[in-house]
Amino acid sequence: MIKVFILNSVFVLIYGWTVDKANHCSCKNYSLFVDCVINFEYGCELKDFTCQNVNCTAQAPDRCSLFQNQCYLDKKNSNSKCQPFNSCSDLQGNDDRECYAQNIRCAKLGETGPNCVEFKCSYYSVDTCPLMCFVVGEKCTDFPDCSTLQLNRCNVQRVCYNDEMTCKWEECSNYKSDSDCMYVYTPERRIQPCYWNEKDQICANAEGPEDLSNFSCSLNTRGAYHWSSSKLDSGSCQSCFEMLLKVVLAIILIFV
Ligand SMILES: *[C@@H]1O[C@H](CO)[C@@H](O)[C@H](O)[C@H]1NC(C)=O
Ligand SMILES: *[C@@H]1O[C@H](CO)[C@@H](O)[C@H](O)[C@H]1NC(C)=O
Ligand SMILES: *[C@@H]1O[C@H](CO)[C@@H](O)[C@H](O)[C@H]1NC(C)=O
Repeated sequence: MIKVFILNSVFVLIYGWTVDKANHCSCKNYSLFVDCVINFEYGCELKDFTCQNVNCTAQAPDRCSLFQNQCYLDKKNSNSKCQPFNSCSDLQGNDDRECYAQNIRCAKLGETGPNCVEFKCSYYSVDTCPLMCFVVGEKCTDFPDCSTLQLNRCNVQRVCYNDEMTCKWEECSNYKSDSDCMYVYTPERRIQPCYWNEKDQICANAEGPEDLSNFSCSLNTRGAYHWSSSKLDSGSCQSCFEMLLKVVLAIILIFV
């Protein structure tokens, strides 16, 4: 165990501490009510004082789009109903607008036939690349390369910022208040959690979950970590998933 801890520390020292939001917790893991509420993007909903997976059919139509990965708005009948969502190809629409109205992840993208498809930036050429996508090299993609982005497109929240005359990757230290100090994306599309250093009044890279508090744990990791207790004054910030990866990695390192 000590070996694992040391290897893990060496790993963090060399590579820093970043998290992947693909490794987010399951709804049940969000013990704090506030963690449950902020993680609606993973289909979590606070119900009967527990954090549960969203029940789409119980959602009012105007709340349906909050849960874009789990629910879609069924518009077949005159009154729209929120229903469980699997994939855009299960939905039908004549054009982009009709597909998008059911779930904002869906489009038509020049396909013929009745079914919608998943919206993809890569469908577009450099010349037709829409505003929500980015030109990287010769491709239209959904994630920018700040170092090559034109200045007038450089304001990408928590990813790129306009530093006078150049477009740069966003950094924790650019945030000047506790409430803005959350996280930034790395060029590898991972999340670098930030933390507010109360003593120096600066926003800095968090070097591990121990830098995060009851409120910042889940918020600053985009739900990859959770506060282990349902009480704010006890518990710690813990991974739901990456611990497993680290153990596997450590085992590999021990045996090579
Ligand atoms: C979801 O909500 C509907 C409508 O309120 C209800 O009939 C159904 O039992 C709920 N399903 C689950 C799994 O709770
Ligand atoms: C939440 O954490 C902060 C910082 O560690 C602490 O000062 C505060 O007392 C905690 N909140 C509660 C309700 O315990
Ligand atoms: C997260 O939830 C899963 C399923 O409910 C459970 O098996 C796992 O132990 C939980 N992990 C943590 C770190 O609480």
